[in-house]
Amino acid sequence: MRTLYCGQLNASHIGQEVELCGWAHRRRDHGGVIFIDLRDREGLVQVVYDPDLPDVFATAEQVRNEFVLRVRGRVRARPEGTVNPDLPTGEVEVLGRDLEILNRSETPPFQLDEHERASEEVRLRYRYIDLRRPEMLNNIRLRAAITRELRRYLDENGFLDIETPMLTRATPEGARDYLVPSRTHPGKFFALPQSPQLFKQLLMMSGMERYYQVVRCFRDEDLRADRQPEFTQLDVEASFIDEHQLMEWMEEMIRGVVKTVLGDDLPDPFPRMTHAEAMRRFGSDRPDLRCPLELVDVGDLMTDVDFKVFSGPANDPNGRVAALCLPAGCELTRREIDGYTKFVGIYGARGLAYIKVNDREKGRDGLQSPILKFLPDAAVEAILERTGAASGDLIFFGADRASVVNEALGALRVRLGEDRGLMKEGWYPLWVVDFPMFEWDEGAKRWNALHHPFTAPREDQLELLQSDPGACLSRAYDMVLNGTELGGGSIRIHRSEVQEQVFRLLGISEEEAQEKFGFLLTALRYGCPPHGGLAFGLDRLVMLLAGAGSIREVMAFPKTQTAACLLTSAPSEVSPEQLRELSIRVRLPQAETP
Ligand code: AMO
Ligand code: AMP
Repeated sequence: MRTLYCGQLNASHIGQEVELCGWAHRRRDHGGVIFIDLRDREGLVQVVYDPDLPDVFATAEQVRNEFVLRVRGRVRARPEGTVNPDLPTGEVEVLGRDLEILNRSETPPFQLDEHERASEEVRLRYRYIDLRRPEMLNNIRLRAAITRELRRYLDENGFLDIETPMLTRATPEGARDYLVPSRTHPGKFFALPQSPQLFKQLLMMSGMERYYQVVRCFRDEDLRADRQPEFTQLDVEASFIDEHQLMEWMEEMIRGVVKTVLGDDLPDPFPRMTHAEAMRRFGSDRPDLRCPLELVDVGDLMTDVDFKVFSGPANDPNGRVAALCLPAGCELTRREIDGYTKFVGIYGARGLAYIKVNDREKGRDGLQSPILKFLPDAAVEAILERTGAASGDLIFFGADRASVVNEALGALRVRLGEDRGLMKEGWYPLWVVDFPMFEWDEGAKRWNALHHPFTAPREDQLELLQSDPGACLSRAYDMVLNGTELGGGSIRIHRSEVQEQVFRLLGISEEEAQEKFGFLLTALRYGCPPHGGLAFGLDRLVMLLAGAGSIREVMAFPKTQTAACLLTSAPSEVSPEQLRELSIRVRLPQAETP
């Protein structure tokens, strides 16, 4: 139906007869001449109709925004003074000879170039219109380009693309499952996979050696800007490798993708940082290295101070007292400081003490702070020394359980970096390694796996599994880019006795282990190679490379914060017959029954 795309037209086509198809982006009536901006996937070109051809002109008069058109005409240079340098096709226009309205459109719920005025709800409800916007189209194309590059790398390196079941058993990645009732087995349910973790391990036991899959995963968890209930992983696993080999491959792949799609260079190799160092310096296991601010421990200076808020955590093995020095922070107003105090409150911090260093030369007299009276000279001097504070700086303090301080000051550090224009430009990837195997769940009084229960302990740490599980380090690794966890994985346990031991430690009884993972434990006994892998969040990778603020911007049909699809109105009720067939009776929560 067309000779080329609208966006492909340029001065080299001047004089040619072309046929174009697309949508009427805008129609302008300039008394006697009608301009139609015709848009397709590749861009936009101006088409001009003048009254010389009365029939065609009459059709042009009927055109409204988002009508679907077929245009025939001659390409010509735009008249002097009307060249549009902002438009790739801006040197030319098409003098329309013929016009066919292929389809009409009702007035769209929002103008494509005024989408900011439309709520996200409207954009999601009319997603097919939203996706016509060049920004969205670019994100979708970038996504396709990234997936293509990832596949190319893995194909070339001998990884096999293998599909795994969607109707399966619960896979323990720590979220709630989406369940699917079975008609043929009344009262029983499939779970949609939270990841293909167990299947990809079984594929290694099947001798597949190297596997990958671009795969949908399902997790019923609280949603945020970088989380969706269904999302896509690039899932990878390989046999007879160690963590160094795997990390080398994966960073080479990501470096290649970023180079190909953006032309940017990532460091070679990526820096590596232990989990302990990341927590100590950045209060986070996914540190954003664009921000130069760092946490500094000051607990040892506070054990004897006459200020319970500090001395309490300073004397508690699970406590932490840390400082965060903000250059030129004296400029902050009272209101701004109050705002940051509120901000850290989101993470459970009960306050945000600070010292303004008005004049470093004047010692105590140069400082201004609500907590100064509690701190002896030696402590004050040591704080200034350790944080490297200079005149004009402000030092924030967090004191609480270490987890609270890390979360609060970790988030504050990035927030301050953004608010104060301290973030460096560019890409700052790193590997976080040496994660602990377990974290203690205070509420449930038991150990949880920090990655998942199939992650191997470091060989030199095996003894700690018995004697001090909390200190035992694992062979897990996360790839972090500009403060986002892009992917994570580990070398797996390949010996059944170690796997059983880890299950025991996690409080999973032998019976429960058999019931849930019996097939894996059995498979481990029939010749399991050493293996390991990793999974990337594809949506997150695309979001970062697209510079988008949310993964919803890089998914064609995302769900809302409440995990609903506004376009199709899913989830929805089903007929009583369907429920009966599935042996299901619905009992709504009390408040919702009439
Ligand atoms: P993990 O649970 O860390 O590991 O997931 C891997 C990556 O998937 C992305 N991700 C998400 N993206 C969008 N929405 C979500 N709800 C969501 N949850 C996770 C993240 C994360 O880094 N089986 C293991 C991998 C392995 O060990 O090989 C796993 O799934 O970017
Ligand atoms: P208060 O004695 O409670 O008025 O607190 C004095 C100062 O310490 C205030 O600036 C509080 O914001 C701050 N503060 C209180 N609790 C904490 C805490 N857990 N961590 C850091 N600062 C705190």
